[in-house]
Amino acid sequence: MCGIAGYIGDRNAPEILFDMLKRLEYRGYDSAGIACISDQGVTVFKDKGKVDEVRGKVDCEKILSKTGIAHTRWATHGEPSEYNAHPHSDCTGRFIVAHNGIIENYKDLRAGLTGRGHKFESETDTEVIPHLIEELYTESFEAAFREALKKLRGSFAIVAISTLEPDKILIARKDSPLIVGLGNGENFIASDTPAILPNTKKILILDDFDYGVVTKNSVAIKDIQTGDELKKKVQTIQWNIKQAEKEGYPHFMLKEIFEEPEAVKNAIKALKGVEDIAKKLTRYKRIYFVACGTASYAGLMGKYLLERFSIPSDAVSASEFRYSTINTIDSDCAIIAVSQSGETADTIASVKKAKDKGAYILSIVNVLGSTLTRISDDNIYTYSGPEIAVASTKAYLGQMTSITVLGLYLAREFGKIDGDYVNEIIDDISNLPGKIQQILSNEDEIKELARKLSDKDIFFYIGRRLNYPTALEGALKIKEISYVHAEAYPAGELKHGPLALLEKGVPVVAINPNDDLLEKMDSNIQEARARNAIILVVGENGDLKTPMIDPLLSPILYVVPLHLFAYYISVFKGLDPDKPRNLAKSVTVE
Ligand code: F6R
Repeated sequence: MCGIAGYIGDRNAPEILFDMLKRLEYRGYDSAGIACISDQGVTVFKDKGKVDEVRGKVDCEKILSKTGIAHTRWATHGEPSEYNAHPHSDCTGRFIVAHNGIIENYKDLRAGLTGRGHKFESETDTEVIPHLIEELYTESFEAAFREALKKLRGSFAIVAISTLEPDKILIARKDSPLIVGLGNGENFIASDTPAILPNTKKILILDDFDYGVVTKNSVAIKDIQTGDELKKKVQTIQWNIKQAEKEGYPHFMLKEIFEEPEAVKNAIKALKGVEDIAKKLTRYKRIYFVACGTASYAGLMGKYLLERFSIPSDAVSASEFRYSTINTIDSDCAIIAVSQSGETADTIASVKKAKDKGAYILSIVNVLGSTLTRISDDNIYTYSGPEIAVASTKAYLGQMTSITVLGLYLAREFGKIDGDYVNEIIDDISNLPGKIQQILSNEDEIKELARKLSDKDIFFYIGRRLNYPTALEGALKIKEISYVHAEAYPAGELKHGPLALLEKGVPVVAINPNDDLLEKMDSNIQEARARNAIILVVGENGDLKTPMIDPLLSPILYVVPLHLFAYYISVFKGLDPDKPRNLAKSVTVE
């Protein structure tokens, strides 16, 4: 949700900033801009469009600047346009700001500032920030910046520069991620690690209510309220630069689908502490999986898995949990938050509220050092590597692997499952990467199926129990990257309404593991077939063929052809699966 960047050092700032923005583009891509300080003063260039389109209009070499800030936008307030694109300036052009988040009290602030003669040029909430700094400035940029921050409500990650003090970038964070990458005689600021990976692996992570003063040779992080300097630990990013590049694949999404075997391997490698966590979980009367989007389907699969072993649990979308389920939470509850980014606003808010009510918090997260990991009692990392495509794929497999192992250990702790059977399934999990690879080697068949169906304007996905979430995930992937209507239903629900929509040629994807409900699923498939629907079965003898697998592990395997299928539907429609319209990765606003 918007990417922000900053650079201060001895190199050409515009080039570096556009490179950084390109690596943050998954966070938003409706407009982009840079503001750089040079001997000629400040140069601001911004426009509607993706980073490369905007970059193409700027002669970076002509801007002789070594300090600047930048932004790639996902519009919240105001349509994508040149005037709404960041960075934004005050009336005098002396204070320039880029921002990720939402300033909730911007209307009041704007009215007050307008009353004092300030002129606004955009519809954004962000523009109040440079005007506030202008209003509060007496003799110190830092002092005015800090006073301005105290007046903001909502969420923000901010980078700011001033022509009055061109040797520094000021930064701040509340509820939106921000890191500083530490170089030699240069420093980098970014919303996320992929932006700084080519330059440094050493980072400082800002916490909520931190602000900072960054020069080319120093970084001071301070407390917004007191102004006191804070000690921050330098952390080392574990990812390498190659992981954040396409490496010959046409899209990140395809690369990430082909990394699914690795994602399962990595999730298993990292599961050492899980037995202890499972022991801890036995203390709680009720377990809630809380997450958004694809991660919420991994959570829903977790609920079905625990119910399979008679362990009470629920899975609730974080955007609902924080306002409704939260009223039922107390210290007898355990929350399992699931998130690739660890920065999703609704998930974080749910966790914070549940924590206040005394619940135990376990997070299953991909990004190390992310906000969620720092507010949880325990973390299970999935180590899926950077996921750049907006649509989550490999991270989902990592999440489901971790949740499955956790669920099995928990069932064993509760005495609901035989220890030998658990060991057997864990062995089976280690065979999963090979089985996923087998599915991926059928890429051409899946591609051909997608080609044939790429002109359809509606898809149905059906599944039962553990694979109902697989159906939801399959449908979501089609929706978000192909803009085609797709509905997922528990298979038994079809005849309670949606069957009315089935007619000749409508594709119905049926997730059909070889388990005790196979015959029930077959009946549901027949019901659809009788309406002349096109049936695509995912399973051992299906149209989207999958290797033999213990039904408990089938959700981890059966989603793989669905990811590939959705990817190719999008490609055959001539769309960019990496950057679906209206969406962005890492949803840091409510
Ligand atoms: C769908 C997708 C989103 C995310 C959701 C949660 O393909 O990517 O639905 O799963 O925004 O994001 P995280 O996992 O980062 O909390």
